[in-house]
Amino acid sequence: MDVGWVEREFDRRASTYDQGSFHASVADAAARFAAPTSIETVLDVATGTGLVLRSLQTLPAAHLTGIDVSLAMLKVARTALPGVRFLQASAHDLPFESGEFNVITCVSAMPYIGSPDAAVREWRRVLADDGRIVVSAFVTDGLTGPTLTRRAAHQHGLIVEDPNAATSTVEKWREISARAGMHVVRAEISTTPIPSATADSLLSPQYPFDVRNDLHDATPDQWALVGATLRELITATVEWRASVLLVELRNDRNSRSQRK
Ligand SMILES: C[S@@+](CC[C@H](N)C(=O)[O-])C[C@H]1O[C@@H](n2cnc3c(N)ncnc32)[C@H](O)[C@@H]1O
Repeated sequence: MDVGWVEREFDRRASTYDQGSFHASVADAAARFAAPTSIETVLDVATGTGLVLRSLQTLPAAHLTGIDVSLAMLKVARTALPGVRFLQASAHDLPFESGEFNVITCVSAMPYIGSPDAAVREWRRVLADDGRIVVSAFVTDGLTGPTLTRRAAHQHGLIVEDPNAATSTVEKWREISARAGMHVVRAEISTTPIPSATADSLLSPQYPFDVRNDLHDATPDQWALVGATLRELITATVEWRASVLLVELRNDRNSRSQRK
């Protein structure tokens, strides 16, 4: 995804991002899954408003760092966690020495970051030999606004790309990590209830994770049909929920020589 677009999108969303419990609950599940000890140095990539680090801040001596491209998201993070180091940086080009961190987390950000191979290679560079990476990714069969919208579009012959697809299964993470000289040691699915949304809000340009952009070639007739089908799907969906895959990656044994 274009970094300029991501920066603008999250600068726009920063003041409201912490409203609602969804992002905090995914961040908390990832922090519990990562479970770092108090003496570890933690880097949270694409930290946003610092929700993962907020869940981790109870560790008395942990050294916490967060990076993100959006200054507005970082401003919220700095206010929430004044004692934590936050830097504006890209997930693909980290301003750190090799092997600096014991734990690297990246939560709810893979679809925006893109190029998972290049990202994981760069994270591995700044990871200690015995360190670990914990990533979250959205599973594509969740009952979420974007999933229902894609399903409605598909029923009318419109293919809307799912930006989660490249990172949504353990198998995909096995492949990504193998290419980076790492392997998956643990994986877990965490399911989070989420608030429902209306078809109008899902098809609005303001909806986070703008599925609507992908429908720009639809004719007005197709657009109306997608809206009608989406309303039916929403009516039939009793319990909205997002399923989140949590994965822990570690270095392959004797893999230091493969680092860049
Ligand atoms: C949905 S938010 C997730 C924030 C946080 N990790 C959480 O769990 O709430 C996605 C974040 O990824 C950041 N982001 C997207 N692409 C990035 C990149 N290439 N490098 C650094 N940050 C990026 C965005 O600015 C945004 O703050």
